[in-house]
Amino acid sequence: MAALFGWGIAATGGIARTVGNVIAKEPGMRVAAVGSRDESRAAALAHELGGAAARGYGSYAEMVASPDVHAVYVATPHAQHRQVVEAAIAAGKPVLCEKPLTATLADAEALVAQARSARVFLMEAMWMRFNPLVRRVKALADAGELGELRSVHASFGFPFPYDPAHRLWNPELGGGALLDLGIYPVALAHLMLGAPESVEAAGSVGPSGVDAEAALLMRWPGGARALLETSLVGMLPMTASVIGTRARVDLEPPFHATTRMTVHRYDGAAQEFRIDSAEEGLAGELREVRDRVHAGDTESPCMPLEDTLAVLRILETARLGLGADAF
Ligand SMILES: NC(=O)c1ccc[n+]([C@@H]2O[C@H](COP(=O)([O-])OP(=O)(O)OC[C@H]3O[C@@H](n4cnc5c(N)ncnc54)[C@H](OP(=O)(O)O)[C@@H]3O)[C@@H](O)[C@H]2O)c1
Repeated sequence: MAALFGWGIAATGGIARTVGNVIAKEPGMRVAAVGSRDESRAAALAHELGGAAARGYGSYAEMVASPDVHAVYVATPHAQHRQVVEAAIAAGKPVLCEKPLTATLADAEALVAQARSARVFLMEAMWMRFNPLVRRVKALADAGELGELRSVHASFGFPFPYDPAHRLWNPELGGGALLDLGIYPVALAHLMLGAPESVEAAGSVGPSGVDAEAALLMRWPGGARALLETSLVGMLPMTASVIGTRARVDLEPPFHATTRMTVHRYDGAAQEFRIDSAEEGLAGELREVRDRVHAGDTESPCMPLEDTLAVLRILETARLGLGADAF
């Protein structure tokens, strides 16, 4: 029997536990190790997710070095991704890194260059791209079913109490609405229309110097556009629509993890699509890493590194355009 694909998880926070639980349920893989700044936290989460066979380490570096770890999942705050990813690539371990890959475009470019030169697999954990309904919208658009794409409308954001220590507001941890939440509308628009020719942003910056809210207008040659919003202060609808000359697709909230979408055609016909659980997006990205690594690939065609860089370029343009502090 083939050995289970062993994941090493870097960090013990909210998404580390969520994704760790999906790994634990997924056939063919297991949580082999957890790394943390604190050994007892690592041991507790390793035991919870992987049972007695999983080990906790008091540093990310020790976890990365474990022979039981076949791939590393990085779930530290954005500004702390680079160091862990660098160590994993240097150890020759495939990496799935939470979104955004890094807090700055320059850091992301450095990691992509390192992974390519070392021929080590690297992918951003943009689980929205593995949601079966998001994949279906893309397939419908590519097949011409929506006609010519004219616009994408999308928003993602909610009020999060101001706390300069929390990662969403703390510049030391890569805080701000755009990098954490705005990345989803931007990634959807980029998936549907590619890199825009211009990006304009309006919004506000919070007391800690990170962006608190932003509206983006992005344009493509020929007049196609995206109208996007993100916020840490306002209650946004979290919906998305992809609008073409023959049909519009509405994704139910939260659109990045949607379980229901409707295709409205110009002749009045409407067709609804559903999936059972948004977790399919998380399971999908984990399977993608395992399958690509087994195939000897160093990138995913479903979540290419060029797309990760293109989305970060847009986010950085918008952040700095709003007057947020540079990281
Ligand atoms: N895909 C998704 O749906 C999704 C959802 C939420 C978040 N995320 C992404 O996942 C990353 C983590 O988010 P989260 O919500 O899980 O954050 P979180 O709950 O605050 O956890 C972050 C963890 O990172 C570790 N860490 C390392 N250096 C740290 C530092 N200087 N300050 C604080 N924690 C530090 C800590 O674990 P140890 O101390 O044990 O090492 C901490 O528990 C972010 O990049 C975020 O964008 C993705």
